[in-house]
Amino acid sequence: MEKASGYPAPNLKSKKRVKPIQFALLLLAVFSYSLTYLLWSDTRTETLPINSAAIVAQCRALHLTPGPPDNFYSRTESDRFQKGTKPTLIRNATIWTGQANGNVVIQGDILIDKGLIKKVGSVDESVLRSYPDVVVLDAAGSWVSPGVVDLHSHLGVGSSPGLSGARDGNSHEGLVQPWLRSLDGLNTHDDAYRLSISGGVTVANVLPGSANTIGGQAFVIKLRPTTERSSSAMLLEPPFSLNGTYVDPFQRPRWRQMKHACGENPSRVYSGTRMDTQWSFREGYNTARKIKEKQDAYCVKALAGEWKDLGDFPEDLQWEALVDVLRGRVKVQNHCYEAVDLDGIVRLTNEFKFSVAAFHHAHEAYLVPDLIKKAYGHPPAVAIFATHGRYKREAYRGSEFAPRILADNGLDVVMKSDHPVLDSRHLIYEAQQAHYFGLAPNLALAAVTSTPARIMGQDHRIGRIIEGFDADIVVWDSHPLALGATPKQVFIDGIAQLEKPYTSHKPESAQHIPHTPDFEKEISDAIKYEGLPPLEPETAKSDVVVFRNVGSIFLKNKATRGINQVFTSALKDGVLVFEDGRIACSGSLEACPGALSYSNALYLDLEGGSISPGLVSYGSSLGLTHISGEVSTSDGPVFDPLSVKVPEIIDGTVIKAADGLLFATRDALLAYRHGVTTAVTAPTSGGFLAGLSTVFSTAAAHKLADGAVVQEVAALHVRLSLSFGISVSTQIAALRELLLDEGEGQGHLARRFSEVVAGKLPLVVNVESADIIASLLVLKKEVEAVKGKSIRLVLAGATEGHLLAKEIGEAGVGVLIQQRPYPSRWEQKRLLPGLPLTQSSAIATLVGHNVTVGILVGDTSQVRNTRFDAAWAELESNGALGRSQVLEMVSSNVETLLGVVESNSDLIATRGGFDFGGKVIAIISSRQGTVHFV
Ligand SMILES: *[C@@H]1O[C@H](CO)[C@@H](O)[C@H](O)[C@H]1NC(C)=O
Ligand SMILES: *[C@@H]1O[C@H](CO)[C@@H](O)[C@H](O)[C@H]1NC(C)=O
Ligand SMILES: *[C@@H]1O[C@H](CO)[C@@H](O)[C@H](O)[C@H]1NC(C)=O
Repeated sequence: MEKASGYPAPNLKSKKRVKPIQFALLLLAVFSYSLTYLLWSDTRTETLPINSAAIVAQCRALHLTPGPPDNFYSRTESDRFQKGTKPTLIRNATIWTGQANGNVVIQGDILIDKGLIKKVGSVDESVLRSYPDVVVLDAAGSWVSPGVVDLHSHLGVGSSPGLSGARDGNSHEGLVQPWLRSLDGLNTHDDAYRLSISGGVTVANVLPGSANTIGGQAFVIKLRPTTERSSSAMLLEPPFSLNGTYVDPFQRPRWRQMKHACGENPSRVYSGTRMDTQWSFREGYNTARKIKEKQDAYCVKALAGEWKDLGDFPEDLQWEALVDVLRGRVKVQNHCYEAVDLDGIVRLTNEFKFSVAAFHHAHEAYLVPDLIKKAYGHPPAVAIFATHGRYKREAYRGSEFAPRILADNGLDVVMKSDHPVLDSRHLIYEAQQAHYFGLAPNLALAAVTSTPARIMGQDHRIGRIIEGFDADIVVWDSHPLALGATPKQVFIDGIAQLEKPYTSHKPESAQHIPHTPDFEKEISDAIKYEGLPPLEPETAKSDVVVFRNVGSIFLKNKATRGINQVFTSALKDGVLVFEDGRIACSGSLEACPGALSYSNALYLDLEGGSISPGLVSYGSSLGLTHISGEVSTSDGPVFDPLSVKVPEIIDGTVIKAADGLLFATRDALLAYRHGVTTAVTAPTSGGFLAGLSTVFSTAAAHKLADGAVVQEVAALHVRLSLSFGISVSTQIAALRELLLDEGEGQGHLARRFSEVVAGKLPLVVNVESADIIASLLVLKKEVEAVKGKSIRLVLAGATEGHLLAKEIGEAGVGVLIQQRPYPSRWEQKRLLPGLPLTQSSAIATLVGHNVTVGILVGDTSQVRNTRFDAAWAELESNGALGRSQVLEMVSSNVETLLGVVESNSDLIATRGGFDFGGKVIAIISSRQGTVHFV
């Protein structure tokens, strides 16, 4: 245990502030001056303006810097306190306080009352006597952290589920619009609030979108429901200017937030080039600068009593917020990715003399730390994703090692969601990944708590667990940096947010900071190769490779296609001998005598890690795109026969993904390095009929390389959805036609559907809604009754599938589903969220009804994290699913469902643990009979 100390207390003494007494003296001075003036200058005619005192006060207030009022630290009740909330004592917690750069952990209690943290440490009975109605929560040693703070969110403005009546994130009226306010689009009914709170998120900075260079003002909110039920009631310390331009000059101003965006997004929406968007910034700032200079000149005169012809205080409602940026009273949150754009903004800050609070997304910031430090005033923080990248050119050089490299350069690191781009419910997962890839644990936790709180100017009340701070607190079921860490309770303003939290029992090992692998070489390569280090695997030169100190071995059973743990040892003394292109022996040392006495072998120490089957991915565009946002780097979408007229030359043809495969994409190579050695990909389609999927090797250099295409055709893929603009009944009718029409000899489409009807080719239907799934199950029966054969039907997506788990199980239908559900669309609304909101997860529910389940990964850049998804599914099942079972969900089950004939028999060797502790170091490629180092 350490003593809480060392964190600099907010310094108020140095800040200038007009005290009422000073103001009274000033008034007196102004009054006596004018009296003298009137008495002695009888030849002059002008008089003082009637509001001169107010003008003088306003002029003086221009120099006040934002922050809490002097008496803030003596508050005994939060301005957000909800009457009737009982005090709470969290007993026996392991408290990560966020103090001293995140290095202070206290074993003790937290007393909460009036929306505030009243005491941290040991709370004894004598103190409790004055809280007779205190509610006690026994944390039994659980980890407790400050509420998670999201510096970059569109929660409530980018609505979930997405509806055309709520697209309020971006204005399309112009490039520079500092007068707009995200608050005006803040929907209080969004489905995501409850979900994000269940992940520990308590505060979010809600930003306008990035379609404009200056998109408008952002607002910091607390996520909990309020008794007033209004958007405004959710605000944390709203700026006084919210009610209009008149601002009480005696109040120290509160921090404001402003969104800026450079690069692709605003350029794409408006003008097409960076030169134009950069000019729009300069033009906007020049307008604000002129107003500010007029105000300053005006005030010099007003304060000197030179009222002659002075007129009104110069101001402009549209520009007042940008003028406030120039006065250093606004936290500029700047979406900016590449060196070229960061450079432009750094120049802009020095030209107009304002500072940027944080560069957001900033996928290249880690390559230019010295440039970031040249920004005016102070270096901006860098707010980034952990591994979500390569979705557009600006994100192509993004690195999972950026948080660590930025921290090494002394820059503030923030992990953010850009919700709903990433579901902010899992913002802690971003911190966990940053930690896995090398960021120090104190900084990783700070990156989603105290650092964003400071960067948004709210660190006088949120982001740390200190007496007097807002009672925003998360009680976790494991160490918050452990994979799958889930809140057991979340407090916002001292109010418990989870009515009936469900918890799971986490292993003791999850109660400690996860041990993380050594990535030092990868980190230096990321810099050396400017974000594009070579990713191709290296082939072992030795004929014999011996894996030693193996903790567990999982192998596929060829007959059942299941995965069995064939070896496990607490002593971690297993071995696997790979000799002349095949596995010569595996298991305990006794079972493989001589394994350690080869003279020509290469020995690899797995440090208790595991050997397990190569993973198989499905659900993304892996193998069809390098950069999804760049048309010229992707295979592109197919024609959809239900929505467009298909060109005659291909009418009736089913498109094969195999024909469009692109090899050596960075996402595929990264997937390989992290154990995903084959993938099944369907053609890209936004409509009804996608075509035929293919199975390919993620490590192959080109299509003609040995084993590159594992199976040319896997399954036939269609999609049924409420969001096509064509009725679901029409879509089902089309599918019925295709299934019932014999269509012999009538081209490929009919032939492929006859294979489906004959039970030879799996039919994969991308579908989310329980209602459409039900119609599909009816259709399946109907077709089978006519044709007498059973269809191999698989549901992909199936976010609402758990509602029909029994029926899906009875129909013998398989499901490919995401490990973490999210209601992006209405048809996903009835998702099963899992812990802590529901006892069971969708995956465990389906498995409970004998449904064959595979895990689907939709984001191409996240295929590399498939191993984590599997381990997470195991953790959240609370013992219902074992390691072998979840491994099947990311390998053999995917193959079985998608009709993969020759099962992937690669093996992956993981050093250390399987999830965050571990690192894939080698892959035994069965086809090539070699060991690859990755
Ligand atoms: C705190 O909880 C731990 C774990 O349950 C327990 O071992 C310990 O005795 C508890 N301490 C107190 C003071 O209750
Ligand atoms: C705005 O005005 C309302 C009503 O007078 C008041 O309750 C609120 O505190 C004001 N908000 C700010 C930020 O000044
Ligand atoms: C699942 O399958 C097992 C073994 O065949 C059977 O005993 C069990 O009743 C089935 N469960 C359900 C919910 O159908």
